[in-house]
Amino acid sequence: MKKLLVFNWKMNPASYEEAERILFATFELANNAKETEIVVCPPFTWLTDFSHKAHQGVKFGAQDVFWKPDTGAFTGEVSDTMLKNSGVEYVIIGHSERRKLLGETDEMIQKKVKSALTEGLKVILCVGEEASVRDQGLEAVKSFIKNQLAQDLKGIENLKLEIENLIVAYEPIWAIGTGTPCSPKDALQIISFIKELLATSYQLLATRVLYGGSVTGKDILDFIQLEDIDGALVGGASLKPEQFLNVIH
Ligand code: PGA
Repeated sequence: MKKLLVFNWKMNPASYEEAERILFATFELANNAKETEIVVCPPFTWLTDFSHKAHQGVKFGAQDVFWKPDTGAFTGEVSDTMLKNSGVEYVIIGHSERRKLLGETDEMIQKKVKSALTEGLKVILCVGEEASVRDQGLEAVKSFIKNQLAQDLKGIENLKLEIENLIVAYEPIWAIGTGTPCSPKDALQIISFIKELLATSYQLLATRVLYGGSVTGKDILDFIQLEDIDGALVGGASLKPEQFLNVIH
């Protein structure tokens, strides 16, 4: 299966012109990286314009979605249906920045995951521990992730789920935006654990699991060349897609 690269632009860039420049550089990367699948997640301001600029090899994703699937009096929110009608196929749910800065709870995340999957969007669910948990050792990390997944995926067993529609991103919070990624070996340990858990507890046998947290052109291969790591969720470095050109050929 192709490796999946999810480019999370977060709240960047400030202008449409710059956004378009980054998008075209990403198209160029996609032209040269046919063995990878690229999903670009720009802010909503640029997303729906870009999602109409179809390009072979690049798909689009939102950075969030509301849990009511259709329309209604929910100021500031965007629904699954709106995304689908705009050609957006993927959505990131439960990013740690939203959990932390906007108070998103596991209960809210669970509702978003369930609604988006029911409506046929491809969900990239982010999970990951704080440094204080990591400091307690691997078993503490596993137990934290197990608990987070149990809450965020509650009720998923009742859905008729296309296996490729759920993707989990292991994003240790202490590695996000710090310039210091988790070591590939440690990331692999947790990712293998997540896969085993998904298979045994949810009968999800082929769910893709990505690594995210300070991935750049310098180290992306260290992660994605490992068989069990199905791709990467890239934040800051996704604004300079040129850096991946020579690496992911
Ligand atoms: P980063 O962000 O690559 O800038 O660390 C990753 C993420 O938050 O998804």
